[in-house]
Amino acid sequence: MEKIPYEEILKIQRKVNIVDIIAEYLPLEKKGKNYFAVCPFHDDHNPSMSISPEKQIYTCFVCGASGNVFNFVMNYEHITFSEAIAKVAAKIGIDFATNSSFKTIKKDDRYDKYYNMFSVTNKYYQNNIKTIYGKKATDYLSKRNITEEEINEFGIGLSLNDNNVSKLLLSKGYDKNDIMLLGLCGDSGGFTYDTFKNRIMFPLFDTEGKVVGFSGRIYNNEKESKYVNSKESPVFKKGKLLYNFHRALNYAREKKQIIVVEGFMDVIRLYTIGIKNVVATMGTAVTKEQAALIRRLSKNVVLCFDGDKAGEKATISALEELERIGLEPKVIRLEDNMDPDEYVLKKAKAGFDSHLKNAMTALQFKLEQGRKKTDFNDYNEISKYLNSVAKELEKIDDPIVYELTIKKLSKETGVEFDTINKLISSIPKKEVKQKKEPKVYKKNKYEMAEEYLVHYMLRSKDAILLYKDKVSYLTNKTLALIALKILDFYEQNNYVNATDFSLYLQDDDELIKEVLRIDSINIPSNVSKEVILDYINTIDEGILKREIKNTKDKIRGETNVAKKVVLLEKLATLKKKECK
Ligand code: CTP
Ligand code: MN
Repeated sequence: MEKIPYEEILKIQRKVNIVDIIAEYLPLEKKGKNYFAVCPFHDDHNPSMSISPEKQIYTCFVCGASGNVFNFVMNYEHITFSEAIAKVAAKIGIDFATNSSFKTIKKDDRYDKYYNMFSVTNKYYQNNIKTIYGKKATDYLSKRNITEEEINEFGIGLSLNDNNVSKLLLSKGYDKNDIMLLGLCGDSGGFTYDTFKNRIMFPLFDTEGKVVGFSGRIYNNEKESKYVNSKESPVFKKGKLLYNFHRALNYAREKKQIIVVEGFMDVIRLYTIGIKNVVATMGTAVTKEQAALIRRLSKNVVLCFDGDKAGEKATISALEELERIGLEPKVIRLEDNMDPDEYVLKKAKAGFDSHLKNAMTALQFKLEQGRKKTDFNDYNEISKYLNSVAKELEKIDDPIVYELTIKKLSKETGVEFDTINKLISSIPKKEVKQKKEPKVYKKNKYEMAEEYLVHYMLRSKDAILLYKDKVSYLTNKTLALIALKILDFYEQNNYVNATDFSLYLQDDDELIKEVLRIDSINIPSNVSKEVILDYINTIDEGILKREIKNTKDKIRGETNVAKKVVLLEKLATLKKKECK
């Protein structure tokens, strides 16, 4: 990668606050001076990542991930360092690629062509629905209580019974193969036809709000399948996006909650009653990627899938996927097999709000589910019920919740408290992952001295100059590299601090992590030259010891007498030095 001038990076970094940027990706909690978030770089269950507004650095104290604002965006979004800079710059209205004196930074424009094609198509569909040909479709929508406002907000459009999308895109010079790749047209013996016909078109957006596909719904032909989706393409992977993600982002943050539903119609309906912190899974079981997206929106998740059997199954599997990444979603189950759309139409906002207020915990949901299935006059069924929920009860940490739940179950089933309690204790404990005590490798004083010297080099000119004058080399290769780079940085910029130095290291994540670790070592921040000299003496002593040991090893293995003599002489000199 070509290096981006440090000054350019610094200019952008000075204008943003890492807290604001990370808050766009993760819910943050303020504790004291710092902010905390659930770390997105490992399977974190508690907020283990701290973000320091003072240092403009994030650090996870579990997995050790650490860096500056650009490192975060780069690693979170899996993009390159220069893309991360451009992205952060764009957030504050700077077009880095054109504004920078460094002209060679390229935006990732591989897929721009595809985004443009979808955008053109979307505009065309949106226009259709407003014409005379759209009358039937808008009538249909209006019968479903979807007005022009929602049509505009969600960019709803209409595909007609013609091949005009293909024609339009071809006339604009797009390649037929590309149009086919995106699933917008097909080919029949050389004839190009539109894929979507006679359907109400819902544009599907990626996390940034770019159209990457469509879902088309029938409205005047009950024979065909209800929804047809764009086929997967380089920019569209259904299982990797959530409907309405980009619009819900800010609302979810504001409400500190995200509601997850199955369908577009559910999202749109909830919008009409002012509930905007909502996304849809689009009918599929929640995938790992979708779960991660949900966590980006909020830690406080409410699952409100369709009230039918399929919705119940989807809820169970979504719970699993979300619990796996440390979330504890709540659950709403709607009566009479209704989906949120139907429910709101029937019971209005008040009905939905009351469900929202009384959303169940996963445990409550699972108890209720079992209860509904059980005939309490049948002893075998009671046994089945208790056995099936025992696994869930075993997970309860809070002793009070545990006792109250068992008491209630006891009353409900007529089975003694103790019997239920025993049943639960008898199930094999879910393997508590034995946290292996990491072997703490104790560093010796020479290794410590090297770390301390580098620590001071990150904050003191004296330390850098003493390093330059007096240190021959550091035995730890990483520290040696860091020290050299600090010296470079200092000579170019005439100052040093860990954060700015990390900007200079750009995308060298491992080195940055080590720099920030060394920087955070808890030792007095100001020391005299004498103390630093002491460290340097210790380092020299360590180097000498190593050389002595190496020479001794060599002597032991040397069979050639003449060579052995030379080595012995060397050893004598080294030992003399050691005594000084
Ligand atoms: N879905 C899909 N393909 C299908 C059926 C469904 O992609 N053949 C997705 C759509 O995103 C849809 C969601 O699954 O919104 C939920 O499906 P369903 O409950 O059948 O649709 P509704 O949202 O209820 O739509 P409508 O009210 O228009 O029937
Ligand atoms: Mn529906």
